[in-house]
This record gives sequence, structure tokens and C-alpha cells, in this order.
Amino acid sequence: MSLERIDKILTSQNIATRSEAKALIRKKLVKANGLTVQRPEEKFDPGETEITVNGIRLEYKEHLYIMMNKPAGILSASRDKCEKTVIDLLPQNMQRDGLFPAGRLDRDTEGFILITDDGELAHKMLSPKSHVYKLYEAECDRILTADDVKYFSDGITIGKISFLPAEMKLTGEKTALVEICEGKFHQIKKMFQSAGAEVLHLKRLRIGQVFLDNKLLPGQWRELSDKEIMNLLSREHGI
Ligand code: URA
Repeated sequence: MSLERIDKILTSQNIATRSEAKALIRKKLVKANGLTVQRPEEKFDPGETEITVNGIRLEYKEHLYIMMNKPAGILSASRDKCEKTVIDLLPQNMQRDGLFPAGRLDRDTEGFILITDDGELAHKMLSPKSHVYKLYEAECDRILTADDVKYFSDGITIGKISFLPAEMKLTGEKTALVEICEGKFHQIKKMFQSAGAEVLHLKRLRIGQVFLDNKLLPGQWRELSDKEIMNLLSREHGI
């Protein structure tokens, strides 16, 4: 862990804006290891220092890991000039610098999106080499059959693009669960399209071994527990 300016530490933890942090320091309300911080330029190791603000101990988190139930109609991007993004759905005090959605869901896709500022974990979670499976629920415009299950399990090639074998489980006449460990552009829709079916509704239910919390309504979010953060990278799979 490296040394960081105290005002930056307070800002990164959403305790205050930069100017509010400076004001807190000026009012002698910030302490580091029991000693009053005198200037915003003072540097500390945030992981190793007991920082208090107005007597309340700061629980330093190096990274944030947020599970959101993405609603349809919202972009999975950090920022957009014209449209609302998943980051915009977070309250202001959670909108830390560096947060991004790890992996894209199409605008009309719903469900589990991870929002984090941990680039290393996101890279591992998204790389097909990591074999982290993502589970989707799809509703199609035609009746799905055992032939579709077999078609997906053989792996699909469309022109120059190929998709690894994927497990599918039929859950209704026109609905199925599909598990993939790649994240190619419009992958699930393209796989169904190549089987002659159009996806009418798509929702991501699980990443690794972490299920979307069914208490989260579209647009709602919560932080992940330490156990869930670990389970994001689980290679276990199977429907
Ligand atoms: N596959 C798709 O086609 N769309 C998504 O949003 C995610 C996976």
C-alpha cells in the first residue's frame, strides 16, 4: 500500500468532497493514529493508519464491489454524454472515481452487473481463460427443443466467430438458462440467432458462483460480501 494525501483518502472513501475534506482538516476534526492532522497535504498509508473523522473511525476500503440489478434501457458504461448509465443509478456518495461496470450487458439486457474499481479482478472475471461462467435466462420468439440444447452444446461457429460449447437448460416452452464463460459481443443473442431464434428478453442471473440477489429490484444495488467477492472468480459451473 502506498502513501496518499489525507484529503484524497477522505474523498476516495466518499467521506467528503475535496473542499469539504480540507474544511474538516482545518477544523481539526481529522485524526490519524490519534494525532490531529494539520494539513491536507499530509500523507498516510490508508490501509495501515487509524483515521477518524469527528471521532468516527474510517473503515477504509481499497476497492468497491457493487452488485446491481441493471434495468433495461440503461447503458453499461461509466459515463455517457446523452444517456443514463449504471453509474448514474448509484447515489452521489457511492460514485467514486474509477468505478466502471465489469463487462457489458446490452442496453435491453437486465440483471447482474458488477460495478467496481478493481481492474485486476474485473480482468480475471472477464477473461475466457479464467473459466468464470455467467448464467443467463433467455426468452425467445419460438419454442425451444432438445435440438437447441444439443446445438449449443456442440459449440457454434458463425463465419469467423466461434463460440465455445455452452450448456442450455430448457425452463419453459420458449425460455431457457444458458451458461457461457466468454463475453463476446451480443453473444447469447447471436447464438440463438444462429439457431433461428430471436431473444426477446435476456437477464443475467449469476457471475461465477454469485447469484443476483432476488431482493434487488431493477435499478437497485448492494455491496458484495467478502465471500461473494471471492466467489466471483469461482470456476464452478453447471446449471
Ligand atoms: N449476450 C448478449 O447477447 N447480450 C448481453 O447483454 C449479454 C450477453
